[in-house]
Amino acid sequence: MTASARLSQRKDTPVAGRATQQIRSIASGNLTMKVLIACEFSGIVRDAFIAKGHDAVSCDLLPTERPGPHIQGDVLEILDDGWDMMIAHDPCTYQCNSGVRWLHTNFSRWQLLEDSCEFTKKLLGAPIEKIARENPIPHKYALERIGCKYDQIIQPWQFGHPETKATCLWLQNLSKLEPTDIVKGREQRIWKMGPSKNRSKNRSRTFPGIANAMADQWG
Ligand SMILES: C[S@@+](CC[C@H](N)C(=O)[O-])C[C@H]1O[C@@H](n2cnc3c(N)ncnc32)[C@H](O)[C@@H]1O
Repeated sequence: MTASARLSQRKDTPVAGRATQQIRSIASGNLTMKVLIACEFSGIVRDAFIAKGHDAVSCDLLPTERPGPHIQGDVLEILDDGWDMMIAHDPCTYQCNSGVRWLHTNFSRWQLLEDSCEFTKKLLGAPIEKIARENPIPHKYALERIGCKYDQIIQPWQFGHPETKATCLWLQNLSKLEPTDIVKGREQRIWKMGPSKNRSKNRSRTFPGIANAMADQWG
């Protein structure tokens, strides 16, 4: 089944319910947007936008971790489906600066880097008016291939989480994210996580404080 077919089968608010929600939203001065959260299994950003009254849907090759509107499939298949905004969390494995050394010891990673950057370019070139892409600090080879630098670097400690994890945002028709709650702690919890079956998932979930800021400021 294609991702588009899955979209039409997704279980969420019935159409009539969505229309009522939209009218309520317009009456209160907010416009409901159709928001695609690309490459998200956690549902964290999706649910932050839904809480603000938007028609948000997450999409990932993996199932959603918590119930909500989700398309399990290739996000490239649904980029043309009339979204007003997309927030993309595409995989960073071959692009992040913290892993650049592996390119010089494992030459097969160069092709994987090419493929990964092609994927990113398709997301950034999607026919969607407002686009945000988040990823860790990239190395220069990734930046050369993607062809554009990030607009902003944010940290979880600017959004209520006492942790460090530099996160870059590439923004199209969206304002820089303003810190909402600067806290003191500077723990590197993400890097200290020990080996486990769910390590990569645990490291990649979006911080709820950042998700809420996105929904409040962009929604
Ligand atoms: C770094 S994780 C992002 C996780 C996200 N921050 C969250 O809270 O769920 C990258 C995700 O991209 C997904 N992914 C990779 N290729 C994809 C594709 N073609 N279509 C949809 N999702 C994809 C992976 O399955 C993975 O869950």
